[in-house]
This record gives sequence, structure tokens and C-alpha cells, in this order.
Amino acid sequence: NISGTQSDAYDFKQARLGIIGGSGLYRIENLKDIVELSLDTPYGKPSNKLLIGNLFGIEIVFLARHGEKHTLNPSEIPYKANIWAMRSLNVRWLISASAVGSLKENIKPCDIVIPDQFIDRTHQRPLTFFNNGVVAHISMANPFCDILSQILSKEIEKLLTKDKKMHIGGTYLAMEGPAFSTRAESNLYRDWGCSIIGMTNHTEARLAKEAEIAYSSLSMVTDYDCWNQNCENVSVEMVIENLQENANFAKSIISAVAKRVSSLRPPSSFHSALKDALVTPEEHVP
Ligand code: ADE
Repeated sequence: NISGTQSDAYDFKQARLGIIGGSGLYRIENLKDIVELSLDTPYGKPSNKLLIGNLFGIEIVFLARHGEKHTLNPSEIPYKANIWAMRSLNVRWLISASAVGSLKENIKPCDIVIPDQFIDRTHQRPLTFFNNGVVAHISMANPFCDILSQILSKEIEKLLTKDKKMHIGGTYLAMEGPAFSTRAESNLYRDWGCSIIGMTNHTEARLAKEAEIAYSSLSMVTDYDCWNQNCENVSVEMVIENLQENANFAKSIISAVAKRVSSLRPPSSFHSALKDALVTPEEHVP
């Protein structure tokens, strides 16, 4: 039962780091001793086989969000099965590596953003594990784990070049897709102060928090969406072109972060996020 996490009693020495790879990141290079698991969950099958492997001496769990042949669009991803599968494999830290569009001039294609907020404009996504007789209202004031994000940004800092900047913090606008935004929408999101736009991270962030998994986003910018009239409108071609470079960078970051997380095993408030969130009295939980 995902709600029965009992963090106090949980042994974090056995906890693992999970990586969800988005567009362009379907495998992790240098992953050794790979065990491929085809899991089934109460929410169906995850997007793909989960790969447990050793990355420079550290065990991680990897999942390709869109499937390894990129066959699932953002609305079709089995988010609940993915997060359930991660948690059932003892993942308590989870990094999502994803392509995003930029909504600000100073956030350029190939830059990296570590968002700390999101605004949800999706309309056909699972919102919770808590329904069918069990009600929980979890805090979403901080949807991304600041402890894990700090580790991420410290490792990224070491790998930056003069052409690649990192932006710490910022609001991720979550859209349904699969079509990109209209220009009116893109400008609206800019007026709202959003930094980046994407289609997947907030759904994972919500569910990860309910699963008491510390979740952070490594958002890699591929385009200026369609608001910037000095640049071409976002297209798949543009996204893919910048993705390859981003994906290589992501692989270096993931190795570095895996080492840090494995040695620090950082405690996070996410690990006890359900404390005080359950409303249904225990005797009425089905
Ligand atoms: N992923 C990459 N670029 C994007 C954009 N402009 N809008 C939504 N998702 C994206």
C-alpha cells in the first residue's frame, strides 16, 4: 500500500535513486549489470521495462517515460503505474530529465532549469492515488524537493560552459499537449511569470509526493516555444536538434548526481509527506 510508508521505520540505506528519462533519453550509457524488470502494478504496466543497474558503483532505477521507442504521448503515459513501480523498487529520490520550452528571453535553448514551482494547465491527467474511499490532501506548496534540487544544481554547476547556463528556480507551466501552445497561450504564460513549459513533470511531481518520493526536475531547454518572434516557432525538428546535445549533458549530470545521492542519502520532507495528510479515519479505510 503506497499510503503505508511509515517513514520513521523505513530503512533509507536500502533506498534507491530513480531516473525518469524524457524525450531523447531512452537509456543510460555506462549502466552495468542491468536487470530489466517488466512490472505490473495496480494501475497497469509502466511506460517501459524498468532498468536496475550499476552506474559507477551505484545502483539506480531507470525508466523511459515515453517508452523506449517513444510511442506514448504525454496524455497516454501511465503516470500512476510509473510512480508506483518506482516506489515498489525502493526509489525514494527521483530525478526527471525532460525537454522543455523557454518562456523567458534569458533562458536560452540548451540551458538547464531546475524549477521550484508549477502551474497546471492539463485536463486529462491522474491527480492522486487517494480516491475510492481514502482521502488525503497533501501539501503542494513546494512541489519539487529543494534538497535534491540543491544536489542537482551543485553537480550541474561543475559542468557548465559559457554557452550553457543554469537557472535555479522558476515556474514550470504544465500543458496537456500533444500540440504545442498557441501564441496567445504562450504570451499568457509569460504574463503569469512562468519560466518554462512542458507536458509531463507536474503529473509526476504530484504523484511522487503522494508516494513520499523526493522529486526534482532537470529541465533541458530545447526552444523558445512560439512567443519569441525573433526565433522560429517551436517544432519537433528544433526540439530534436537540441535534444541530442542536452541528452549527452544529462548523462554526465546523472552519473555525478547518482554518486552524491548514494553517499549522502539526503533526508527530505518529501519522505514523510503523507504525515497529517490523510483525512479518512483509519477504521474507515477500505
Ligand atoms: N517540450 C519541449 N519544448 C516544448 C514546448 N515549447 N512546449 C511544450 N513542451 C515542450
